[in-house]
Amino acid sequence: MTRILGIESSCDETAAAVVADGRDILSSVVASQIDIHRKYGGVVPELASREHLRQIVPVVREALAQAGMQFSDLDAIGVTQGPGLVGALLVGITYGKTLAAALGKPLVPVNHLAGHVHAVFLEAYKAGRTPQLPAVCLIVSGGHTVLYEVKAAARDSSQSREPNASAERGDGPLCYRKIGQTRDDAAGEAYDKVAKLLALGYPGGPILDRLAAAANGIPAPVKFSHIKTRGNPLDFSFSGLKTAVLYHVREHAEYAAEIRTRQEALERGERKFEQLLPLCSPQTLALIREFQNTVVSDLVERTMLAADELSVRSVLVSGGVAANSQLRSVFEDHAKRKGLDVFFPSRALSTDNAAMIAAAAYERFRARAFADSSLNADPSLALA
Ligand code: KG4
Ligand code: ZN
Repeated sequence: MTRILGIESSCDETAAAVVADGRDILSSVVASQIDIHRKYGGVVPELASREHLRQIVPVVREALAQAGMQFSDLDAIGVTQGPGLVGALLVGITYGKTLAAALGKPLVPVNHLAGHVHAVFLEAYKAGRTPQLPAVCLIVSGGHTVLYEVKAAARDSSQSREPNASAERGDGPLCYRKIGQTRDDAAGEAYDKVAKLLALGYPGGPILDRLAAAANGIPAPVKFSHIKTRGNPLDFSFSGLKTAVLYHVREHAEYAAEIRTRQEALERGERKFEQLLPLCSPQTLALIREFQNTVVSDLVERTMLAADELSVRSVLVSGGVAANSQLRSVFEDHAKRKGLDVFFPSRALSTDNAAMIAAAAYERFRARAFADSSLNADPSLALA
């Protein structure tokens, strides 16, 4: 059995996990910094680095304790190399490098986005399923909105980047091709900005998701048009939608009073769904529903277009926004109609975690893709 310690510190979660053979999660610990960044309405890089520094040692210790293991039981250390915030990444990398050197174990650098893809496989394995390849994978979070074609790499050489369209995944390595990406904001970023402008706290996704569900049956105060992007039809764009929400709110004076009331509630620490719901007018709920309808239909339609064009066998959806309940149900409906399987991680594996990093590291461990002490953070590391 190969036991890998995964370390993740690319954004605002300090995480460590132990995963056996890239499949079995023996432990997964996530220390979230949301409370620190909340008052700024977004992640403050300098504060994130400091907090990672404070959390990394206890979080790794807890991951080992939960797995019932000692450092000496590990076979390798997998660490996120990028993409992400450079100062945040450096904390995990420096810690991982030092630990690997002290233990005399290999250090495996991992692309954070490959981690998100592996989160889907980890969840599927837990349920005794394996997504069939080729697949299309939508990674949609606060920092990313990107579409990949995912294939099994050729079996004869684990280093090969040549895809083998017909290969089943088995335990073989994956091969990625980027086919679309956002040209401006990530979808999660749009959720966070709209929540900020409506005084609904941070992060915006989880609460807007629940408030949108409370708007059932209320007519929308505005209709947002389909999002258009020139050029690649698989590219996304969410900044225009965010601006459309802003203009609508500015042009309709009736929103101002309730925004002020909610701002005061947030300042008193009242940020739970149950506390904010009574402070939202039916019009605000319907506005949120319309915003979410537009985001969800755009994400699903472009992903399904890619699925059609590439004749894939499965659809994979990962990243923080993959936790969205409407996104899940609309994807499931569309995929069923097309006879495709759609896979999501659990909510815990959708958002940033280190189990997905350890799982991605296993594949690279088997390919002996090790790093030496010169490993550096790469804030814009590409997956393909
Ligand atoms: O993957 P993640 O933890 O971190 C990044 O890499 O960004 O994703 C966090 C993002 C935030 O923007 C948050 O608002 C969004 O995911 N999010 C959601 C939901 N839960 C989290 N967006 C929509 N619906 C949700 N239920
Ligand atoms: Zn992420």
